[in-house]
Amino acid sequence: MAGGSQKKRIARHTASSAPSVPPPSMSKPTLPPCRPKCGIGVLPLVLGLLSVFALYHLTPKKASLKVSSQHLYSFEVVNEFPHDPRAFTQGLVYGGNDTLFESTGLYGQSSVRQVHLQTGQVQALHQMDGSYFGEGLTLLSERLFQVLWKTHTGFVYARSNLSNLGKFTHEMKDGWGLATDGKVIYGSDGTSTLYTLNPKTMKVLGKSTVTSNGYQVSLLNELEYINGEVWANVWMSDCIARISPSDGTVRGWVLLQNLRQTLLSSVPTEVDCLNGIAWDDEKKRLFVTGKLWPKLYEIELRPVKTLLQGSVEDLCLSRYWI
Ligand SMILES: *[C@@H]1O[C@H](CO)[C@@H](O)[C@H](O)[C@H]1NC(C)=O
Ligand SMILES: *[C@@H]1O[C@H](CO)[C@@H](O)[C@H](O)[C@H]1NC(C)=O
Repeated sequence: MAGGSQKKRIARHTASSAPSVPPPSMSKPTLPPCRPKCGIGVLPLVLGLLSVFALYHLTPKKASLKVSSQHLYSFEVVNEFPHDPRAFTQGLVYGGNDTLFESTGLYGQSSVRQVHLQTGQVQALHQMDGSYFGEGLTLLSERLFQVLWKTHTGFVYARSNLSNLGKFTHEMKDGWGLATDGKVIYGSDGTSTLYTLNPKTMKVLGKSTVTSNGYQVSLLNELEYINGEVWANVWMSDCIARISPSDGTVRGWVLLQNLRQTLLSSVPTEVDCLNGIAWDDEKKRLFVTGKLWPKLYEIELRPVKTLLQGSVEDLCLSRYWI
């Protein structure tokens, strides 16, 4: 498990065999990072420092003044449920009747599963071939769509029995996240692009660049469609961006730093990133979990007026810490 997860963490970040250095400490969130301790080369670090310098000194005031026009949310835990601590959650969707569908990653451990909400019990499991790394998942009528990491392909499964109904190809740069409004499919590939896909062909119907106060939001990961917005986990952060799918603007941020903090203080095991958002539209319940998290939380949002320290960019945008 650790080997595989390391593989993904490192592979996503190391373009060369350059010696690794610790992540830069400026503006680092106070939490232990859910990101590679290694794998950041010297060049990206230097470029990162330069770009942070440039952003502070060349562009800044106008953009940061606009922060107040975005809505910020904290949360309250209203329920917690067990979650398979070996599930490297990459996709999560609510299927009605207290049932979740989940896609898990890592080579040799990837799966699509049907999970009972209250008990965390896996009610049905489709174990994937060891050469596949499962990523985002969405449910459109009776079919589950799943994308795979590092390929331009994905699978369709029958919701009723998780049997594989076929393979598709797509045009995104990679397969990270999927969501649906019931008509189109939204996709993410780890960049700042939000894709709109035709569910019949998986061809790209449209694209938008996701921005927050004028800054690009990259590393868009697991997606969920909620009340006209696409919500996205930003990889390696504890932030969820609430995106307007029409133009890619981030309308608000859900800040879940304290959730992982709570989990870390109550569970002695290592946990990875927050990843996995599911929405029960009927009962208006919001669920979140993370990779290898032993718990899945039902949360309610609480608007916050201002951050006690730092800015939403510090917390949520990777340009500050890559
Ligand atoms: C809901 O799930 C329960 C088991 O958890 C099952 O017995 C029941 O038939 C399901 N109901 C529907 C409508 O699918
Ligand atoms: C699974 O369900 C699909 C769609 O309902 C059906 O076509 C298929 O035959 C089922 N497969 C198995 C093995 O039961």
